Amino acid sequence: MASRFRVTYATLSADNEDLHAWYEEGLETARGWLGRHITPFVNGEDRPGGETFEVHSPVDTSVTLCTVASATTDDVTDAVAAAKAGRSSWGNTDWQERVRVLRAAAEMISDRCAEFAAVMTMEVGKNRLEALGDVEEAADLIRYYCTQMEKNNGFAKDMDKLLDKESTRSVMRPYGVWGVIVPFNYPMALAAGPAGGALVAGNTVVLKPAPQGTFSSALFMDCLRESGVPAEAFHLLPGGDEVGQAIVSHPDVDGITFTGSYAVGMSIYREFATAYPKPVICEMGGKNPTIVTAKADLDLAAQGITRSAFSFSGQKCSANSRVYVEREVYDELLAKILERASSLVMDDPTKRDTFLGPVIEEESVRRYEKAVAHAREAGTIVLGGEVVGQTPDGVQGHYVSPTIVTDLPLEDRLFRDELFLPFLAIAPVDSLEQGLELANDSDLGLTAGFFSTDEAEIQQFFDTIEAGVVYVNRPAGATTGAWPGVQPFGGWKGSGTYGNAGGGLYYVQQFMREQSRTVVA
Ligand code: NAD
Ligand code: ALA
Repeated sequence: MASRFRVTYATLSADNEDLHAWYEEGLETARGWLGRHITPFVNGEDRPGGETFEVHSPVDTSVTLCTVASATTDDVTDAVAAAKAGRSSWGNTDWQERVRVLRAAAEMISDRCAEFAAVMTMEVGKNRLEALGDVEEAADLIRYYCTQMEKNNGFAKDMDKLLDKESTRSVMRPYGVWGVIVPFNYPMALAAGPAGGALVAGNTVVLKPAPQGTFSSALFMDCLRESGVPAEAFHLLPGGDEVGQAIVSHPDVDGITFTGSYAVGMSIYREFATAYPKPVICEMGGKNPTIVTAKADLDLAAQGITRSAFSFSGQKCSANSRVYVEREVYDELLAKILERASSLVMDDPTKRDTFLGPVIEEESVRRYEKAVAHAREAGTIVLGGEVVGQTPDGVQGHYVSPTIVTDLPLEDRLFRDELFLPFLAIAPVDSLEQGLELANDSDLGLTAGFFSTDEAEIQQFFDTIEAGVVYVNRPAGATTGAWPGVQPFGGWKGSGTYGNAGGGLYYVQQFMREQSRTVVA
């Protein structure tokens, strides 16, 4: 039955009472699911798997969300073998039928958005609006790739003729078995997007969730199973990095989509293709800059920067982590950012008014402590720098305070390394040119923000900035908040391969290769 509510860009708003009521109901349902045991799902069968681990909530570390049986070597071997054996049936299924099945899965995800978002809030600590957005993004990405198939007639097209008797068609064909490796921070959207693209294009999929985000990936799998994706087409292989490594090194895997850190992505990019070239789509980290000029609306800039740096505790690849401000407005902008950032509500993210929840795990807290120690030595911490460790009600979780650092040397590593924490470094610059030079002086190039009211400056930013997703004067998030079909999302340089962005016009084609079919009558 279709749900009574639909999350859209318009309805996803903090003052939407119906949305909150729906989420609260979802939370009740989701709490009843805690303790689920998740196992490998291979060729239509739930398998026992091997070593088991528990996933604890970062929101309240006393809560065990689920237990997970990791995929064994045999599970990986059997999943890839079944996916290989099923390539022909799924790949040769009419693309219209694949679209129908995947659209059905997307509808299920949308209908269950509230309960899935509630699981995700407890699982990774996203606040309720962010989690609802992640789940709906999962559905929207699938729908968008289905629409691309429809608009392009399944990517089959008649070519020019040289001879009357000869006709040629260009037909885009799937590669075969596609490995999808998922990061913890978008545990549903970044499982569903790449898997949806691969499946609708006709590939069979073996998917490895992030250990911390296994529950969300399992919920996505439930929707695929219920919507009729055949057994051979989708296989879930939960577990740690070693399961990902086993997929990457398997010779029968024909393509990979990895989303995660730069270091792991680059190692996969280098290692995946051995005997011959094979497609590997890596979406990796960001060290995303915002530049603010003296001609900016500073209130708008402070709002956009604060949201972008601290929502989901800075654990978005798109998060804004460094700001370059023209010197004459530096003090004023810093004061405005401090005013906003110091009033952000950090609490249990299932609560309605929470802006930011915890970071994902103990290791992130240790990384935060190291960054704080370095910031104290190299610059000035003007906000935060504390491991809080609990909610205002005393519930223990991985809570760390939003942190702003100034007075750092411009080459400091806090301006260079992705921390994936609620950590913002701000520096004055002498000119827009210097801001652009510093913004581009990075191996990464995912998102970038810009604030100015001057048309010529805006054009200069567009002409110069080296990043795949760029925003001007955006209060909702200086560098964050892409929506499928609206802002194609993909990185340049070390942030992503090929520049064919997720939720964009050229994404789904990457899961296919062209075959030229000539027939002489
Ligand atoms: P991660 O790189 O630690 O892990 C990502 C996934 O890869 C996990 O499933 C992990 O188990 C698996 N993995 C780890 N080592 C592997 C190996 N050697 N072979 C195969 N698989 C392996 O990343 P994370 O901490 O889960 O996610 C955060 C990172 O992801 C950040 O760097 C963030 O910027 C990036 N990210 C990028 C995008 C994007 O679209 N560009 C989106 C979300 C997250
Ligand atoms: N899609 C997410 C954003 O744009 C990462 O912020």
